[in-house]
Amino acid sequence: MKAVVCLKYGPPEVLQLREVDTPTPRRNEVCIRIFATGVTSSDCIVRRGKVKRALWLPMRVMVGFRAPRRPLGIVLAGDVASVGEGVTAFKPGDQVCGIDPFGFGAYAEFKCMSERGLLATKPRSVSYEEAAAIPYGGLLALHYLRGGGIQQGQNVLVYGASGAVGTAAVQLARHFGASVTGVCSTANVGLVHSLGADTVIDYTKDDYLKSAARYDLIFDAVPMAHRTRSLRGTGGLTPTGRYVSVTDGSPKFSVEGLTLLRELVEAGRFRPVIDRTYPLEEIVEAHRYVDTGRKKGNVAITVRPDPVQSLVDPT
Ligand SMILES: NC(=O)c1ccc[n+]([C@@H]2O[C@H](COP(=O)([O-])OP(=O)(O)OC[C@H]3O[C@@H](n4cnc5c(N)ncnc54)[C@H](OP(=O)(O)O)[C@@H]3O)[C@@H](O)[C@H]2O)c1
Repeated sequence: MKAVVCLKYGPPEVLQLREVDTPTPRRNEVCIRIFATGVTSSDCIVRRGKVKRALWLPMRVMVGFRAPRRPLGIVLAGDVASVGEGVTAFKPGDQVCGIDPFGFGAYAEFKCMSERGLLATKPRSVSYEEAAAIPYGGLLALHYLRGGGIQQGQNVLVYGASGAVGTAAVQLARHFGASVTGVCSTANVGLVHSLGADTVIDYTKDDYLKSAARYDLIFDAVPMAHRTRSLRGTGGLTPTGRYVSVTDGSPKFSVEGLTLLRELVEAGRFRPVIDRTYPLEEIVEAHRYVDTGRKKGNVAITVRPDPVQSLVDPT
């Protein structure tokens, strides 16, 4: 099968499309025929191989010392091609989407995952590319909003509201009944409004700290590499307000969370935002774009065209 291998840690050019062995599902595993994946911020961090000193050794042990052992890619959408012995949750032909944050291997035509992994039925109402864009930002936003104790009626500020995590956080905070202020740059003000934010602050023109508004929860969703300021301890909170950052601790993902996101997508209450879509062959270009830190929502990768969509739209 075709897969993108990472020859060493470094810039996007370390990624190369190669022929590799097609995996076979083991007991309790499903083999997914991948239609779409995505370039997440985490894929780029792993590709660069530059992490905090304390994380260097654990990461190299987990991912590989000289280079990642497996193709990169953690999010996917596709259909179940075959199942291993003992699988009961899925059957061949089922359409699925999911994430394998520590297993990687989604920059490929096929990938095997445990049937008890972070997999859910793909919402019928969205494309494979959109389905692959659900889990990363959605599960991270869900983890941190819940960790911050989000409640109905609260005043919530999402800083970095136009990224993968931010676009999900704005919509989920609205789902939880909060009043949402999103912070982003000028170009993304319209997008963040369209996701349901009650107020949008353009950080190039205004500073949320200068307004009289006080927040029950401030969620900083800006990746560390792009931060020009630290929001922690700078104010803007109510006396009982809480600050959470997307860089805090180790986020926990659950199938329950993924199922909630799927249900919200199906109900039209959560929209995975796609900025650009690249074919798998242009993975280097896609990584270059994500490295800019300027993507809006998610960058999708088409691994193989959806046969149904191709019939509808032969272009
Ligand atoms: N804690 C963990 O273990 C863990 C695990 C997985 C992921 N993560 C983290 O999750 C994050 C995921 O980020 P993402 O994929 O959502 O990022 P992204 O899509 O690249 O979004 C970046 C956001 O930051 C904003 N931004 C960029 N420069 C800015 C600046 N100078 N001032 C204010 N805002 C700025 C962008 O808005 P504009 O373009 O509008 O400026 C955009 O909203 C990464 O940092 C990753 O490390 C953490």
